[in-house]
Amino acid sequence: MAAAPAEPGRDCPLCPRLAAFRADNRAKFPDWHNAPVPSFGSLDARLLIVGLGPGLRGANASGRPFTGDWAGDLLYGTLLELGLARGTYAERADDGLELIGCRITNAVRCVPPANRPTPAEIAACRPFLAAEMASMPGLRAILALGSIAHDAVLKARGVRKSVFAFAHGARHRLPDGIALIDTYHTSRLNTNTGRLTDAMFRAVMREAIEATG
Ligand code: URA
Repeated sequence: MAAAPAEPGRDCPLCPRLAAFRADNRAKFPDWHNAPVPSFGSLDARLLIVGLGPGLRGANASGRPFTGDWAGDLLYGTLLELGLARGTYAERADDGLELIGCRITNAVRCVPPANRPTPAEIAACRPFLAAEMASMPGLRAILALGSIAHDAVLKARGVRKSVFAFAHGARHRLPDGIALIDTYHTSRLNTNTGRLTDAMFRAVMREAIEATG
């Protein structure tokens, strides 16, 4: 069994702006999670899916990545369709959904105002992403949802950004042999405008499964 990675504490103080936002949200929405959102899935998985950060009324409220967020509908629907999840996705952390062979995390664990973390906040959260990957002994492939996740993964693995450019559908081979696959984020903007279709996302997810060997 893999050893648990270092996790940010419930009151993580590393990003003052995010901590202040968290305090506001705790006062306004006391029933929500309102804390760093832990990763979901087994550390023994071969595939790690990396998002940007929790949505205010989604993962920040439910306490599980992408859960209750618009972006989770396509993500969890595709995981269920391709056999990477079992159960029912009901937009709540207690819906009993189980992931099979994959784990989901975010580049930034706390909800950022307007879904926009600053470069300093992404950097402050990087050690947790690095610890996450280091704690997955069977890790073979990483699926980055969007360019911010792509850049965060590269930096967390100590690879210069300029070495691998983000491109939807691209499959990079990191120096340690792990595959990095890029997709446009499953955000409302991307799916509503047709920049990312269900078929495109399914294809990239199949590529990620194949890369786990
Ligand atoms: N919810 C998450 O947990 N991550 C994202 O990147 C978007 C929504």
